[in-house]
Amino acid sequence: MKKWNVATVRAAKGVKKLGCVTSYDSAFARLADEAGVPIILVGDSMGMTMLGYSTTLPVKMSETLSATAAVARVAKNAMVVADLPFGSYQCGEDEAMKNAVLCMQAGADAVKLEGATERVCHLIKRMVEAGIPVLAHIGLMPQSVNQLGGFKKQGKTREAADQVMRDAKAVEEAGAFAVTLECIPSELAAEITAALKITTVGIGAGGVCDAQWLVMHDLLGLNESAPSFAKKYADLATIVRNAFATYVSEVENSVFP
Ligand code: KIV
Repeated sequence: MKKWNVATVRAAKGVKKLGCVTSYDSAFARLADEAGVPIILVGDSMGMTMLGYSTTLPVKMSETLSATAAVARVAKNAMVVADLPFGSYQCGEDEAMKNAVLCMQAGADAVKLEGATERVCHLIKRMVEAGIPVLAHIGLMPQSVNQLGGFKKQGKTREAADQVMRDAKAVEEAGAFAVTLECIPSELAAEITAALKITTVGIGAGGVCDAQWLVMHDLLGLNESAPSFAKKYADLATIVRNAFATYVSEVENSVFP
């Protein structure tokens, strides 16, 4: 099978829905890739799923780069998207460009960044001109959790919904090949998906988008406080906890080795 890329993602719109996941290391990324996942996001959700933080804000560029390289080493067919962490694109355009380039040099096929302000749209344009595909992210933007007052659904009033629609059109106009719609009403996600030519990737936005994200730890049952919209396809927490406990007990009782 050919590796997923910007052209094949674009071509899937209206033809085939894409089930996409996050992953942050080679072990799980290899399994996701072998299972046929089209896009693997090295999300800054790693701050919460892997590093024990309560938000994504503490994730550093160095952590994003090593996780991206680990995933890219094993992703034979999946497109790898590196999530630019908080602070890596807010402190000046040249620094943002340099950080996006570092992600591509680590093996990413595209980068993701949050927002649709004039400043962010200008950055998207510059990255695309430089040959860096950009997946935008609007709606609930976890890097702005302090500004938003929590991880809350966005676009709930008509005025707020109109703003999310304007944001979607702005990132499309700037050149993004796809846009994440996080935690918005499904009716709004449907309107945006119909209005845009680019791929919409929903999370907590109903089943109407062209593609879906699911955070790997929620999907595999490794996050015991997963959001209510997430679906658990396996209960790895129980399996892993039991395996550790059985091992400890077998060593204590001289059963193993
Ligand atoms: O970091 C992440 O996992 C994300 C998804 C929620 C889209 O941005």
